[in-house]
Amino acid sequence: MRGYMPPEFVREVLDRTDIVLLVGEYVRLQRRGKNYVGLCPFHPERTPSFTVSPQKQFFYCFGCGAGGDAIKFLMLREKLDFLEALEKLAARAGLSLPPQSSDPSWMARRRELEEGEKLHRLALEFFTAMLWGEKGAPARRYLEKRGVSEEAARRFGLGYAPSEADSLLHFLQAQGASVEAALKWGLASRTATGQVVCRFCGRLIFPIFTPQGKVVGFGGRALDDTVQPKYLNSPETPLFNKRNELYALAQAKETIRTQGFAVMVEGYFDALSLHQFGFTYAVASLGTSLTQEQASKLARYTGKVYIAYDRDRAGEAATWRGLDILDQAGLEVLVVELPEGQDPDEFLRSAGPAAWEELLARSLPLLVYKGQRLAAGGLVTARDKLQALRALLPNLAHLSTWAEREEAIRLVSQLTGMGWEVVRDELQRFESEAGPATGLKSSKNAKNKHEISGVPRAQIEAETKVLRALLRWPELLAQVEAEGGEELFILSECRAVYRALSGALAAGEELRPSVLSGQLPEEAMGMAAAILIEEEEAIPWEDCLRFLRASRWKRRRRQLAGKLSLAEKQGNEAKVQQILSEFQSLLILEQKGGEMDNERERKPGRGAVAPE
Ligand code: UTP
Ligand code: MN
Repeated sequence: MRGYMPPEFVREVLDRTDIVLLVGEYVRLQRRGKNYVGLCPFHPERTPSFTVSPQKQFFYCFGCGAGGDAIKFLMLREKLDFLEALEKLAARAGLSLPPQSSDPSWMARRRELEEGEKLHRLALEFFTAMLWGEKGAPARRYLEKRGVSEEAARRFGLGYAPSEADSLLHFLQAQGASVEAALKWGLASRTATGQVVCRFCGRLIFPIFTPQGKVVGFGGRALDDTVQPKYLNSPETPLFNKRNELYALAQAKETIRTQGFAVMVEGYFDALSLHQFGFTYAVASLGTSLTQEQASKLARYTGKVYIAYDRDRAGEAATWRGLDILDQAGLEVLVVELPEGQDPDEFLRSAGPAAWEELLARSLPLLVYKGQRLAAGGLVTARDKLQALRALLPNLAHLSTWAEREEAIRLVSQLTGMGWEVVRDELQRFESEAGPATGLKSSKNAKNKHEISGVPRAQIEAETKVLRALLRWPELLAQVEAEGGEELFILSECRAVYRALSGALAAGEELRPSVLSGQLPEEAMGMAAAILIEEEEAIPWEDCLRFLRASRWKRRRRQLAGKLSLAEKQGNEAKVQQILSEFQSLLILEQKGGEMDNERERKPGRGAVAPE
């Protein structure tokens, strides 16, 4: 029944929902590496097989094969139909459900947001024109003083709001926007005397983009350090919620995805400088307080984050709070320790990019950083030691493998000066109090549960692997299409996942989880979850694709053979000839394909892992 809802609405609801928080209301979840696990609410079990991925925004049970997105979870758990579940989630996310896309309140809301988006686009256009035009001289001088290149400034869409209080308003009005709209969307404000003035006048403008590249707010920095506040940000509007946005994520997401980690900094300037020096994995948390929403947003792009906050008292306190928030969101966390009193921007400019890379390489894993801090004052009494240990237990419990745990237990034992047996026992006690009694499980094979009689195992394997590879490297799509696209997939679920994937890619959409699940038919949810949740280091996609192609030919040959014998029985000579010539061309195609493979194999450097 998904089709009855405008897909963009379904996507918006999913984008605003965090599946970990949702499932957490029903299931006691514990972190295991990148994922969360708990006892499956859909079948009885003693050890947890139920897995939730913050990055993929899917759940999957390795025990019973139930799986899907947040909507599917509510449907199963609360026995709701699709619309009811969607309505519940929409309400949670502060959205009201449109009965149909022509619903007036939905249309009104869309129109409202569109007005805001348009106004922000116009304002951005104005600010950048001002920066690079005549009036921008003071801001350009400031950028020069701070060592920001024109290229970097343009890449981040920096702008300038001239000091005349009404120039933005004149521009907006000339473009058909009203003063009321400018006030409503936080671009202008009313002074005590009732005069309407540009909110950001005299400031350097940092536009804040969503990961999809929409401007939703601005940060404005005073050019003169005596002006307070140093930064003025857009107020909360229906478009902009500071808790949700990460500065520079739009520019960083590609690098974060390919390099497999992000670096989280505090300030606009820190992110800007890192990008300018080529470290395009940096994002900023818009001030010192990192939120859960920001952490789970980041967790959709990567499983690992370095936190590089200012080395001042405020920054250190913020680092401390941020650590557990990031850890909770399922991220592996490392702490970058800057020299006393510096922020990443200052460090880069004084010590240079090579020193930055060294610093990153010397960063401390969360547990080490926390342990060292806790032990810094010297742990003397048994009580002190136990207290330090208890502060570390939640982080210990998040480790997913025995190897990691063993190492961490040794480490914590060293840091706290307690015997490792004590640490181990305390960890066990903590876990049995905090959640389901867990033994770590070796991950069972996801697709077992979805084995469908009549389809050979190798076929299922190849189909799921090719889909997994496509998710990771969307640029493979052209190759899969060339080999037959949808035709390669026999399992209807896999075919549906492929259709959703290729549809989203063809529409130029970014492959975020909500886009995919918003397009999947419900029956395909479980399989999609199985495909998405399993992590594979190296996917032998080339072999799999070759297998699928061969299997497709085999099916076509068999089909033709069937038709041929029918035509022969009927004595339809013309038909027989036609089928025979079809056979002929199929054979030629097959041979060509084989030759192409041989050639490929002769070329060096085409391993069965990632395409470059
Ligand atoms: P910082 O004061 O460290 O700013 O605050 P910064 O980016 O290093 O700026 P420079 O280098 O001094 O110019 C970190 C972040 O906190 C938010 C901004 O997002 C800033 O980048 N902030 C700070 C505000 O929103 N308002 C303020 O008044 C100060
Ligand atoms: Mn700073």
